[in-house]
Amino acid sequence: MLKPPVLKELAQIVGRANLFTDAEELVVYSYDATRQESLPWAVARPATVQEVSGILLLANRERFPVVPRGAGTGMSGGSVPSSGGLVLSFERMNRILEIDERNRMAVVEPGVITGDLQREVEAKGLFYPPDPASHQFCTLGGNVAECAGGLRAVKYGVTRDYILGLEVVLPTGEIIATGARTLKSVAGYDLTRLIVGSEGTLGVVTKIIVKLLPLPESIRTLSAFFSDVTGAARAVSRITASAIIPRALELIDGGAIRAVENYLKQDISDGSGAMLLVEVDGPAASTFTEIEVFERICWEAGAVSVKRAANKGEQDQLWKIRRSISPALYTIKPRKVNEDIVVPPSRVPDIIAEIQEIAKRHGLLIVTFGHAGDGNIHVNILIEEEERSKAAEAVREVFAAVLRMQGSISGEHGIGLSKAAYLPMEAGKHSLEAMKRIKRALDPNNILNPGKIFLE
Ligand code: MLT
Ligand code: ZN
Repeated sequence: MLKPPVLKELAQIVGRANLFTDAEELVVYSYDATRQESLPWAVARPATVQEVSGILLLANRERFPVVPRGAGTGMSGGSVPSSGGLVLSFERMNRILEIDERNRMAVVEPGVITGDLQREVEAKGLFYPPDPASHQFCTLGGNVAECAGGLRAVKYGVTRDYILGLEVVLPTGEIIATGARTLKSVAGYDLTRLIVGSEGTLGVVTKIIVKLLPLPESIRTLSAFFSDVTGAARAVSRITASAIIPRALELIDGGAIRAVENYLKQDISDGSGAMLLVEVDGPAASTFTEIEVFERICWEAGAVSVKRAANKGEQDQLWKIRRSISPALYTIKPRKVNEDIVVPPSRVPDIIAEIQEIAKRHGLLIVTFGHAGDGNIHVNILIEEEERSKAAEAVREVFAAVLRMQGSISGEHGIGLSKAAYLPMEAGKHSLEAMKRIKRALDPNNILNPGKIFLE
C-alpha cells in the first residue's frame, strides 16, 4: 500500500485529478487480454517526461513497484500489476508530435493508438507497417514494450524494425535519448533495441521515433479454403518457398473458423477445415501477377476453393474475420491459454502436425491460427477450469517441440507473467543470467514492472 505522504507527493507530481485510488477505478487497470488480474495500489496518469521521472525518483526512494501500461491489450500479462504498486497509464501522453514527410519519420508519445498513427501517415502517402491484430485499440508504447508483431511481419518485420530512437526514463529517474533521427547509427550500444521488447522492465518509454515507408500503390488479397489444416500448411510452405514475399500469409484452422462464424453470425467457409488469407502489395502490375501465382499454388496444394477479394470492402471483410478470432475464442470455453510460438517457416507443417498429436494425446481442444508466413502460430488451448494442469503439460510439450525445430516460445506476445516459468527452456543459464545482470544494473531496486520475464 502507498502511505498517505507518498500519495500526496504523487498528487503533487501529476495533479490530484490524475491520481486514482478508488477501488472501482483501480479495477480498470488491473488486467490485460490474458484476463490475469491483480489490483494496483494506485494509478497515475502523467502528461510529461518530467512527471514520469519524478514518479520513478519517488518510487526508488520509497521502493514501490511501478507498472507502465498502454491499452492493456497485451497477451502475456506484461502490464498486469502482479505485485501491486503504481500503474503508470499513458492515456494523456497520446499525441502524434510530428510527421516528417521528407525524411519518412514520425515522432509520437507512447499513448498513441497504433491504428491512429497508421491512418494519419497513410493520409500523407506514408506507411507504418507493424500491424498487431488489436491495432484499433493497442498503443505504440505497448507495441514497443512487447516488440509487437502482427499481420504484415512476414514481409515488413516487427516493431523493432521501425524504431529509430526513443526517449526513456530509467528506473532510477534519469531521462535518456536512444538512437537518432537517422536511418543508421552505431554510436555506442544499441539501447533502442535493448528497450524494445523489454516489457517495461528496463525503462519507461516517453517518446518514440518511428521509421515510415512509402505507401504501397496496390494491395490484392485472396482467401483459400482447404478440407483440413494439413493442406493449408502445405500451401503455406510452398508460398514461403516461392520467390515472392506476401505482405500477409495467415492460417486459420477449422476450430477458429467455427468460432468466428458463431461470433460474427456469418457463414465464412462452407464447412471447410482451414482457411488461408494471402495478401500482396506493390505496383499494380506486379501485385496482379503475384496474386495469380499464389492462387495457383493454393489450388495445387489441394484447396477446395480460392477467391480473390474484388474490392476494398471485400478485403476489409476478410481482415475483420481474421481480427475477430481472438475475441471469438473467448466465447467457447471459460479459459483460453494463448501461446504464440514461432518456428522457421519451412517447419510450419511439422509443428501443426505435432500440435494436433499433443491435442489428441491430452484430449484437449487446441485451436491454431496466425502468422503462418513468418512461422508464428497462435496455439490456443480452450479449457474448463479443471483442465488447467493438463493444458500446462501440453504447453510444455508444444514448447519442447518448437525448440527442437529451432524456434522460439514467443514470436510477438512477450514472456510477461504467462511464460516466465518456461523461459529457462529456451534461454540458456548464462543468457538468462546476462539478462538478469542488465536488469539489476538499470533497476537496482527492482521497482520497474517486477515479477515479469523472470521467475524470481
Ligand atoms: C493475433 O494475431 O490475433 C494476436 O496476436 C492475438 C492472439 O494471439 O489471439
Ligand atoms: Zn498475432
